[in-house]
Amino acid sequence: MIKRLTTWRTKSIEQLLAARESGQHRMPRTLGALDLTALGVGAIIGTGIFVLTGVAAASYAGPGVVASFVLAAIASGLAALIYAEMASTIPVAGSAYTFSYVSLGEVLAWLVGWNLILEYLVASGAVAIGWSSYFADLLRTAGIFLPEQLIASPFAGGIFNLPAALIVLLITGLIVTGTQHSATANKFVVAAKISAILLFIVLGVRHVDPINWTPFLPYGVKGIFHGAAIVFFAYIGFDAVSTAAEEVKNPNRDLTIGIITSLTIATVLYLLVSIILTGMVPYYELNTASPVAYALLRVGLPWATALISIGALAGLTSVLLVMLYGQSRIFFAMARDGLLPPIFDWIHPRLQTPLWDSVIIGVLVAIIAGLVPIGIVVELTNIGTLTAFTAIAVGLLILRRTHPDLERPFRVPGVPWVPYLSIAASVYLALNLPPLTWVRFAVWIAIGLVVYWFYGRRHSRLSENDSVSSPLAGMVPGPALKKGPRK
Ligand code: ALA
Repeated sequence: MIKRLTTWRTKSIEQLLAARESGQHRMPRTLGALDLTALGVGAIIGTGIFVLTGVAAASYAGPGVVASFVLAAIASGLAALIYAEMASTIPVAGSAYTFSYVSLGEVLAWLVGWNLILEYLVASGAVAIGWSSYFADLLRTAGIFLPEQLIASPFAGGIFNLPAALIVLLITGLIVTGTQHSATANKFVVAAKISAILLFIVLGVRHVDPINWTPFLPYGVKGIFHGAAIVFFAYIGFDAVSTAAEEVKNPNRDLTIGIITSLTIATVLYLLVSIILTGMVPYYELNTASPVAYALLRVGLPWATALISIGALAGLTSVLLVMLYGQSRIFFAMARDGLLPPIFDWIHPRLQTPLWDSVIIGVLVAIIAGLVPIGIVVELTNIGTLTAFTAIAVGLLILRRTHPDLERPFRVPGVPWVPYLSIAASVYLALNLPPLTWVRFAVWIAIGLVVYWFYGRRHSRLSENDSVSSPLAGMVPGPALKKGPRK
């Protein structure tokens, strides 16, 4: 008899839910639908709209960047439907990683988790660096000049990006002191950034000159797709809602509301901001790190620039908050499965949070933010996320077949076509990223496989007896099938 390869073993949904209920690795349920929507909006609206809109308009799509936002919204919306079904069916910490574990098998789940590390960890560093430059700008408007060496990485002419590292450590402290506190703080920050965006819309719309919209597609139709592959970053974050699944009071209803509502709010705001922004100034002037502030200055509203900068800082802060929070919950889920060392699934008895996850991630991100110049991370983050989106769409199709009777509080309509469309949209966007990004991504995956081979494979808590065969097991190529089950 041919033995199946152990790394294709899947976790059963019953095991997952049971593990969640066992007190030892359990987190308290404190979050409601409003908290989750705030968590989603907090994670979504940030660098994408405040920084990337300008670059995407100036270098890729011109005023057609609004079409790029529409395309990216479609790809994200399709994925959001899939996340909503998976998160409401399997309300367990770990997001796409956990969904893959029950459907695609351990090694693919590991790779999805590995990609999520790329998404959250590296993107957090990028957001912190963006925060630092807005912060330095704001101080400058008040006549305070920070030393250049302390606001840039060694690769960008400085020594250490101190504000970037400090904001990461500050937010880590907030997360460590408890989920409910961070959710409350998050709501204030989200309110501040939405107010800033609404202020921009109200002020900006009066200064729109339609002449700026021509030519609408200076880089041709292709530019829309290249732009979409970049501004896709602006939508990343709704998936962070599902990382909080175990701490939700009524996961079946609230997770779906949280994911869909937060994505809808972000989409409406992005379309309005990108139309108005490209109507206020010629697209080729927008190649700046703070295009929104630039446009207001350009039309003679300097007082509004300072206000919007404060809103942008709030926006970037909340993205950081949710990204760091989400990453700690993914580490937690991976460690609970034995794929990461046990230190990551320990919950502090008094604080009731996975303390070491937050601390270790905080320190890592602070180092990245302080020392590394992050020009490439947006693309790298996008490719990692698009891969995770593809994986869970495949996972959904498999689960529908293997577990047709599972209770699904939210069901994706039009299966299998909606998941197919989601896969096609994600793959197409990823193909519009530069080839070098693919090379870097391949290196990251290769490192992930090595880590899995030497650690996760040996320490996985999923023993051969209680795992179930993945539907993909039969697709494992010949040589791999010769391997016997792990003892
Ligand atoms: N969507 C998040 C942002 O734009 C990652 O900052």
